[in-house]
Amino acid sequence: MARARTVHVCQQCGAQSPRWAGRCPSCAAWNSLVETLETPPARQRAAVPAGARAVAAQPLVAVATRHDDRLAVDMPELARVLGGGIVPGSLVLIGGDPGIGKSTLLLQVANLLARQHGAVLYVSGEESAQQLRLRGERLGALSERLYILPETDLATVLDEAERLGPVALVVDSIQTVYVSDLESSAGSVGQLRECTLRLMQFAKARGVAAFLIGHVTKEGAIAGPRVLEHMVDAVLYLEGERFHSYRLLRGVKNRFGSTNEVGVFEMADAGLREVPNPSAVFLGERDESAPGSAVVVTLEGTRPLLDEVQALTAATAFGGLPRRTANGIDLNRLHMLIGVLSKRVRLPLGNQDIYVNVVGGMRIGEPAADLGVAMAIASSLHDKPVAPGTVLVGEVGLGGELRSVSQLDRRLAEAARLGFTRGIAARAARVPGRRLRVESVASVQEALGAALRS
Ligand SMILES: Nc1ncnc2c1ncn2[C@@H]1O[C@H](COP(=O)(O)OP(=O)(O)OP(=O)(O)O)[C@@H](O)[C@H]1O
Ligand SMILES: [Mg+2]
Ligand SMILES: [Zn+2]
Repeated sequence: MARARTVHVCQQCGAQSPRWAGRCPSCAAWNSLVETLETPPARQRAAVPAGARAVAAQPLVAVATRHDDRLAVDMPELARVLGGGIVPGSLVLIGGDPGIGKSTLLLQVANLLARQHGAVLYVSGEESAQQLRLRGERLGALSERLYILPETDLATVLDEAERLGPVALVVDSIQTVYVSDLESSAGSVGQLRECTLRLMQFAKARGVAAFLIGHVTKEGAIAGPRVLEHMVDAVLYLEGERFHSYRLLRGVKNRFGSTNEVGVFEMADAGLREVPNPSAVFLGERDESAPGSAVVVTLEGTRPLLDEVQALTAATAFGGLPRRTANGIDLNRLHMLIGVLSKRVRLPLGNQDIYVNVVGGMRIGEPAADLGVAMAIASSLHDKPVAPGTVLVGEVGLGGELRSVSQLDRRLAEAARLGFTRGIAARAARVPGRRLRVESVASVQEALGAALRS
C-alpha cells in the first residue's frame, strides 16, 4: 500500500516544505516543522457531490438533548473532577509525572466501567499482557468485560475497537502509538496530533469515552503540542510527591463541567484509594503543641482543604549563606515572606536557615497560605507554638499588610467542621451555628501577636 503523502508544515508561519529541516526555510524558526498528512483542499471538496451531503446546518433549538447520558463511575473523586460522570464520545487527556500512578488509575477506572456498563478496551504501548495481568490482580481489576491490547499501531487499535464495540477506550500512552502514514516516530508532534485526531473521530462517531494517558515534560506541560490540549474535551493532571502517598487529580480543562476541581487519592498496595475527607487525614498526625506548625485553608477548585505548614529555623553555620528550602510552596513566595518578616516585623532571619514543608506532599499555589507560612516561621524562631485550635487565612502584601482572600466563608466552614475554634484573617467573620470565631488583623505584625499568644 502506498504511503499517504506528507508535508512538513511550519508551526510558526505555516510554510510547507517537502522535507524536514531543523530550521524553517521561510521564517527561520528553529524546530518548527511538523510532519502532517497532505490533503489537497480541492480533492476534499470534490469528493462530496452536491445534494448528497451528510451534514447540514440545523437550528440549535432543534438539537435533541440528553442530560442523563453520562456514564456513572463508582469513583466519586473522579466524577467530581469530570463534573459528574463520563460523557460518551468525549476525549479525556490524563497527564502526570513518570511513576505517579496514571496506569494504575486508568486500569481501575476501566475496570469499574467494565463492571457497570460493558466492554472496555485498555490499549497499552508500554506494558506487556503479563504486566497488565499482574497489575490487574494487584488492583483487583479483573472484570470479565475488561479487554487489554498491547499494541502501538493505531490502525490495529481502531480495528480492534471497532470489532469489540467498547463503551470506553484507554490509550496508555498517546506518546507510544503511531499511524504508519507518517514517517516521523511515535511521540513526535505530527504523530501525536494525527493519532489524537483519529481517536477523536472514532470516539465521536461511536460514542465511546476515550482516555488518553500523556507523559509530562520537565516544564510541566503534557509532552507534545499544546494543540493536543486544545483538541481534547478535558485535561486532567495526576500530581503528588513521588515519596508521599497522596495524589491529587486536578482538572485543568473541562468542556462538561467546572475546571480546577480536584480529587484526592492515596496510593496503596491495592491501587489508588479515594480520600473523601482529606483535611482530616492531612491533619491527622499534627502535634498542636509543636512550634513551627500552622494550619492553613486553601481552596482547590470549589473544595476547601486544610493543611499543615511546618517551618524550621536554625542558625546558619558561621560564615555560610543562609539556606532556604521550600517543599510544597513556591520558593520565591517563601523569599518574599522572609523579606516581609525581616523588614516589616524586624524578625532577625538574616542568619537563619529556613525550611518550609507542607505536610502530606501537597503543593499549595494559593497566596491564601501566606499568613500561615509566615506564622509558622515566626513560631519556630520564637520557639513558641501557634495557639491551639487556630487556622490562619490571608495573603501577605509587600508592606506587611494582610489581604482578604476569596470565599472566606467556605474555608471557615470547613475549619469549623474539623473542630477549629479560632481563625485569624483580614476581616472578622463567624460561622453560623459553630464555635469558630474569626479575629480580623490588619498586618503580619498584628497577626503575630494574636497567633502566638499563649
Ligand atoms: N507491587 C506494588 N505494590 C505497591 N505499589 C506499587 C507496586 N507497584 C507499583 N506500585 C505503585 O504504583 C506506582 C506506579 O504506578 P503506575 O505504573 O500506574 O504509574 P504511571 O504514572 O503509569 O507510570 P509510567 O509513567 O511509568 O507509566 C509506583 O510508583 C508505586 O507507587
Ligand atoms: Mg504507566
Ligand atoms: Zn516558518
